[in-house]
Amino acid sequence: MDGMTDQAQRSETEIPGKPTSASRTTLSHIMTGSDTNLLGTVHGGVIMKLVDDAAGAVAGRHSGGPAVTASMDEMVFLEPVRVGDLVHVKAQVNWTGRSSMEVGVRVLAERWNESTPAQQVGSAYLVFAAVDGDGKPRAVPPVIPETDRDRRRYQEAQIRRTHRLARRRAIKELREKRAAEGLDD
Ligand SMILES: CC(C)(COP(=O)(O)OP(=O)(O)OC[C@H]1O[C@@H](n2cnc3c(N)ncnc32)[C@H](O)[C@@H]1OP(=O)(O)O)[C@@H](O)C(=O)NCCC(=O)NCCS
Repeated sequence: MDGMTDQAQRSETEIPGKPTSASRTTLSHIMTGSDTNLLGTVHGGVIMKLVDDAAGAVAGRHSGGPAVTASMDEMVFLEPVRVGDLVHVKAQVNWTGRSSMEVGVRVLAERWNESTPAQQVGSAYLVFAAVDGDGKPRAVPPVIPETDRDRRRYQEAQIRRTHRLARRRAIKELREKRAAEGLDD
């Protein structure tokens, strides 16, 4: 699979494309006292769950069925989130392969005690795989980027995809080499 080009994979599927806007989703949530860490600000894991939830909703909408999280990378926390803040988690499909989708997520916080516009507090990129009833990968519709920003995100996602695959392959090869030399337990 890794050796095939994305275009070759896509032409195999022959599923009609879907525009980015068809699955774009925003999830909003008010942070409460049960969401805090020892410092009294919101626990990063709470934000990560919201990110996974929003991205999962997008992946399900785009693929028209169940989709599972394959990876989450570049989760960045820019500013602390506080109790009472209204958090908006905005997610969209950036890129599609044969059965996988990269979902980009931006996290914004509306401060409960300030009248300033919502501030970006985090972001992440997740890869979801669409699966069938047996949990096996199934083909997804190609995403159709609609705006210049969508097209930029598509191109950036392709760069991340190339790096993810290269890293996975390099680590796999190193492990196989070390195992063949009897270097690891
Ligand atoms: C994700 C999963 C379905 C992949 O299955 P697989 O048998 O490895 O199938 P494939 O190798 O064909 O991968 C399917 C697609 O996912 C992509 N993918 C798989 N693992 C990936 C990873 N770690 N990072 C990025 N992409 C990944 C593949 O590149 C492929 O994309 P493509 O079809 O667009 O080319 C499988 O590993 C799985 O079920 N994982 C558990 C998911 C889960 O439970 N998530 C919730 C966490 S609690």
